[in-house]
Amino acid sequence: MRAEESTILENTIAREEQFQLATYKKMPVVAERGEGVWVFTSNGDRYLDLYGGHAVAATGHCHPSVVAAIREQSAKLLFYSNLVYSEARARAAEKLVSISPASLTKAFFCNSGTEANENAMRMARMATGRENVITFSGGFHGRTADAISATFLGKYREIGKPNVPGHVRAEFGDIESVRAVADGSVAAIMLEPIQSMAGVRMAEPSFYRALCKLCDERQIVLIYDEVQTGIGRTGEWFFAGSKAGDGVVPDIITLAKALGSGIPVGACLVTEEVASHIKENDLGTTFGGGMIAMAAVTATLEAIETDGMLVNVREVEEYLRERLKEVEQVVNVHGRGFLLGLEFADKAKPIHEALLERKIITGTSSDAKVLRLLPPLCLKKNHVDLFMEVLRSVL
Ligand SMILES: Cc1ncc(COP(=O)(O)O)c(C=O)c1O
Repeated sequence: MRAEESTILENTIAREEQFQLATYKKMPVVAERGEGVWVFTSNGDRYLDLYGGHAVAATGHCHPSVVAAIREQSAKLLFYSNLVYSEARARAAEKLVSISPASLTKAFFCNSGTEANENAMRMARMATGRENVITFSGGFHGRTADAISATFLGKYREIGKPNVPGHVRAEFGDIESVRAVADGSVAAIMLEPIQSMAGVRMAEPSFYRALCKLCDERQIVLIYDEVQTGIGRTGEWFFAGSKAGDGVVPDIITLAKALGSGIPVGACLVTEEVASHIKENDLGTTFGGGMIAMAAVTATLEAIETDGMLVNVREVEEYLRERLKEVEQVVNVHGRGFLLGLEFADKAKPIHEALLERKIITGTSSDAKVLRLLPPLCLKKNHVDLFMEVLRSVL
């Protein structure tokens, strides 16, 4: 690195450290530009991004048609609230519902994953007239009061003290633990169908089916938090309806992250039955359904379709899994599609750091032995080859 470039880098880092609250442990990377699976830094380095900025960059960085749609919309109207109709909003809602499981027929737009989950829980409470929500050990649902109180993962719930009432814990994958607490006070069961932060944990397909049956028997609303698994990450649009989940479709799916390719947007997809309990003014948010976000949603969904990204995810996942068999230090590969947890015999953090030094961005998780990969859905086999070469050399 030239002395001048190194000064620019240090200057940016120093100013951010000085003026921004230090709430994240950051990588020493100053991201300036992105293209597909690559992130370019201010000093001219290029990183292979296998993390996608927390699973957000599903269409790849700066997908040309997403950028064009945002640019076009921003020249017309940046924002107007839900008090008026908008062609951009109508298109986004129609498109999102069209790719969703058939029973989910209405969308509610908000701004983030935590907000989507809070609204989903609220809708379940309104639909049932009950208060409690069962969530699972290892699940992460966001950082606002109700969502963090629904989060039974490591330190997170503690951060949200005092937790709000109305939350009950069960063990992920253990249907008896759910039955034991699913009494007449329970409005909803909410889960991350693949627990990402916990180390990419999945349950047996029969668990999802048993949950669905229990919800039907006891008139409980089933909510899938698909903030990470949704919008193509598993090689299908949603985990809901997939074979890995025994075809179960919940009453509500929550989404965010990939939905806007980087423009903040969240959504709840709901059944007619749930929708029938929601009246004017029951839910709301100023920015939800804003035109820029809506243009980004439509363009994101169309880009995934047009570029055949779902098929790509399935093919490249298979290739990656095959190639990982060559690496004896990888003892297991968890997850589906491009939500993968590489389990090592030992700690994953030094591997994450060594990869970063060799210009590959990956993620860690709450499980110290699991390295997470959440790359853009346009990752190709040649990128996997590069990753494998570097992984072997750092190991
Ligand atoms: C599964 C899941 N749900 C909810 C959230 C919260 O989303 P947001 O950070 O957009 O509020 C996250 C964020 O990481 C998540 O992974």
